[in-house]
Amino acid sequence: MIEKIKLIEDKAIRALDSIKNLKELELFKVEILGKKGELTSVMKSLMNVKAENRPLIGKLVNESKEKILEKLTSVESHLVTEFKRAKLKKERVDISLPGKKVETACEHILTQTMREIRDIFMGMGFEVVDGPEIESVYNNFDALNISKSHPSRSTQDTFYISEDSLLRTQTSGMQIRYMKEVEPPLRMISIGKVYRPDFDVTHTPMFHQIEGLMVGENVSFANLKSILRTFSEKLFSQANVRFRPHYFPFTEPSAEMDIECGICKGKGCRSCKHTGWLEILGCGMVHPNVLKEVGIDPNKYQGFAFGMGVERVAMLKNKISDLRLFFDNDIRFLKQFK
Ligand code: DAH
Repeated sequence: MIEKIKLIEDKAIRALDSIKNLKELELFKVEILGKKGELTSVMKSLMNVKAENRPLIGKLVNESKEKILEKLTSVESHLVTEFKRAKLKKERVDISLPGKKVETACEHILTQTMREIRDIFMGMGFEVVDGPEIESVYNNFDALNISKSHPSRSTQDTFYISEDSLLRTQTSGMQIRYMKEVEPPLRMISIGKVYRPDFDVTHTPMFHQIEGLMVGENVSFANLKSILRTFSEKLFSQANVRFRPHYFPFTEPSAEMDIECGICKGKGCRSCKHTGWLEILGCGMVHPNVLKEVGIDPNKYQGFAFGMGVERVAMLKNKISDLRLFFDNDIRFLKQFK
């Protein structure tokens, strides 16, 4: 028995010396130390050894096992180091190779446009306010003097959330919110997303609007023209503007403002559909019904309001032909506006 143990030990140590890789080492572990391994079977056969010899033999087996394990650990750690070194050598990274570029564009042209417009009006004393995109039917339509039968209220033109709430179709509701909180004299603009169920070259279901409002004791249509002409001069470098009569339920009188086409200088070209003018915004004097609705006396105060689409402004200013480009996230388009 003692000899057998010694033999297994010698064989194991020699085997360990000749092991060349981790795979062989695994096999060795099974053969010698595994459940059916040689050393394990010697342990098992201890039962057949006479009781008085058992402690001695047991001790010998344990000592042998320890020696083998010690050797095994050192062989294993050596092989692991070797393995890692070989792997690193094989997978060598060529740090002189050019890296993969992370493409970046720049601030979105719509964000740039909104900031420019905002700064112009802030410079003229307008307060910038924010409002919710989920709006009440009251603020979006009723309080703005829009009749119950107005077609813009239909489900074809408005995303309803419930009977009395919707995704705002215009930023004009901000006039109501603001006038209910702030006493005149007041000047505000509000910029944000609006929603309408449309989708083609000139319409997207979500787009951006800027709303403006000024109310005071002596605010006149002349003030409206002056403020909006100044705006056009600053944003488009174009002081040639014209006001055409128009209709909006919440203003009276109402108008649309055009700027002279910068491409043909008013002569008429494809860009301006041969009219020489580009339509920029809607505006007018705040309707007395709207003032009454928010508790402002129309006999004491007057005001003007205006609204414009940010996408339209950005398209005209940068000669962009398709509205959908703003939302396609094509870096080739976006990075042109650095
Ligand atoms: N809300 C109008 C629209 O969506 C734009 C507009 C026109 C706003 C005239 C105004 C205004 O404040 O006075 O078409």
